[in-house]
Amino acid sequence: MSEPNVKEVVRDKYGQAALRVTSGEGGCCGNRASAEDASCDPITSNLYEGTQKDEIPDTALKASLGCGNPTALAELKPGEIVLDLGSGGGIDVLLSARRVGPTGKAYGVDMTDEMLALAEENKRKSGLTNVEFLKGEIEDIPLSDNSVDVIISNCVINLSGDKDRVLQEAFRVLKPGGRFAVSDVVVRGHVPVEIKKSIELWVGCVAGALTDEEYRAKLVQAGFDRIDIEATRVYSVDDARAFLSGHGHDVDALVKQVEGKFISAFVRANKPEAACCA
Ligand SMILES: C[S@@+](CC[C@H](N)C(=O)[O-])C[C@H]1O[C@@H](n2cnc3c(N)ncnc32)[C@H](O)[C@@H]1O
Repeated sequence: MSEPNVKEVVRDKYGQAALRVTSGEGGCCGNRASAEDASCDPITSNLYEGTQKDEIPDTALKASLGCGNPTALAELKPGEIVLDLGSGGGIDVLLSARRVGPTGKAYGVDMTDEMLALAEENKRKSGLTNVEFLKGEIEDIPLSDNSVDVIISNCVINLSGDKDRVLQEAFRVLKPGGRFAVSDVVVRGHVPVEIKKSIELWVGCVAGALTDEEYRAKLVQAGFDRIDIEATRVYSVDDARAFLSGHGHDVDALVKQVEGKFISAFVRANKPEAACCA
């Protein structure tokens, strides 16, 4: 798919997901009447702890479509400026806003109108004032250079058709010394292309997960250092069994090629202090 087509498909899928949350259904991306319904759960379920759940409106939690918990791992400090790439219903923006407090600020960028409307409603319910949702694309972030302390994101960068551009933009808006602290789906090692496509459909509706080596290389290329990729959840073929067999795969034969290779990862990197003056 060309890049504009990827964007259209992603926007359409997540627009529908937002409307499902608004109408009281879950936000899972799959067709609710299909096997994808149950198979979304291992990805998006149980990501947030009890204390975090108490800090946000219930509808923000219901709209959660991530694959990790970046605010729990990003070590946010009072006064910091945080940007969430692909903020969806706003869950990680609201949690960040609580962490950075009134002297800090949390921005969310998303390209899907229905998601932005949901996020604004969740902001209103939260009562938080240090929050701003911006309409935009993560390949062209609507913020100025060197303006953000921490970039977070939750299962979005894998959806972009131009990941190099996303990482360049993240680097541009981060202040020197700023942190990249992102949850994303990552592939460990080689997986045959057709199987990769099927698993990606299962994991995130429409996805293009990088291998850990590709992610590292692209971060280095964008200028980042101190890169670390840590597995936070490892997907089992059994979790995807119903979905994969529905897509024509012999699941028992796949186990060896796929087991343990698809993970949710916490990807950390830093913009070097000297980047401002190079
Ligand atoms: C998997 S959902 C994750 C939402 C949120 N981060 C969460 O954890 O619930 C992906 C979100 O990213 C947005 N998105 C995907 N690609 C994007 C792009 N290129 N630019 C801006 N937003 C994008 C979608 O509109 C959707 O809201």
